[in-house]
Amino acid sequence: MHKGVIIAGGLGTRLHPLTKVTSKHLLPVGNEPMVFHSVKQLTTAGITDILIVTNPQYVGDFVNALGSGKEFGCEFTYRVQEEAKGIAHALALAEGFAGGSRIVVLLGDNIFEKPIQHAVNDFHAQQQGARVLLKQVAWKDGERYGIATLNGNHIVAIEEKPPHPKSNYAVVGVYCYDASVFDIIRTVAPSARGEYEITAVNNAYIRRRQLEYGLVQGKWVDAGTFDSLAEAHQILLNSAEWH
Ligand code: G1P
Repeated sequence: MHKGVIIAGGLGTRLHPLTKVTSKHLLPVGNEPMVFHSVKQLTTAGITDILIVTNPQYVGDFVNALGSGKEFGCEFTYRVQEEAKGIAHALALAEGFAGGSRIVVLLGDNIFEKPIQHAVNDFHAQQQGARVLLKQVAWKDGERYGIATLNGNHIVAIEEKPPHPKSNYAVVGVYCYDASVFDIIRTVAPSARGEYEITAVNNAYIRRRQLEYGLVQGKWVDAGTFDSLAEAHQILLNSAEWH
């Protein structure tokens, strides 16, 4: 079976002063700390070996909230990302944990109305490469996300936070990778904002013609702002799937 990685680093500055207290990923959404949703998405998809990557300030809070994993029917491993240098930089810390297995990576602030299990199943059936999930968003919001340009059934490019998006298909925070992802990360250079971007990793898979995609079923929110945090809260409170 695949292994799971939840990326829950970053400083959550857009959610100050809430994030003076704890990590963004532990703030209440629905009736639980936000990261519980990512854990439940993975266990629902049959993934029970899960790495949590967090930053030094909050790792104790994560261990307090999640423990060993017994309560969730899974097993947690924790790693600390010393510097906030981006999602691909955080993912590099998963190499030893992955141990050559394929991995399903979730961003811990992404909330979904429906299970993402279908994407995991589709990846299971995929011979090699990577798989992302897309969701159509309002065009004006394109500058907040990675945006995919499609040609027929293929993604031909992904642009990270483009000021003038070429489509309104956002790449959401679910990434399925084969074992070559760690070699790819080593080839990635930092972006203009000084981060090792997950979009650069996905574009490397496009160049290999090994990036496939599916579409998100139901609502999706990146809960990084006050408005989207409130929306995420409503989605989980109103969703029968997660009670
Ligand atoms: C990250 C990714 C972006 C993706 C988004 C989804 O952005 O860089 O490509 O669309 O997550 O939540 P961030 O939220 O870290 O700015």
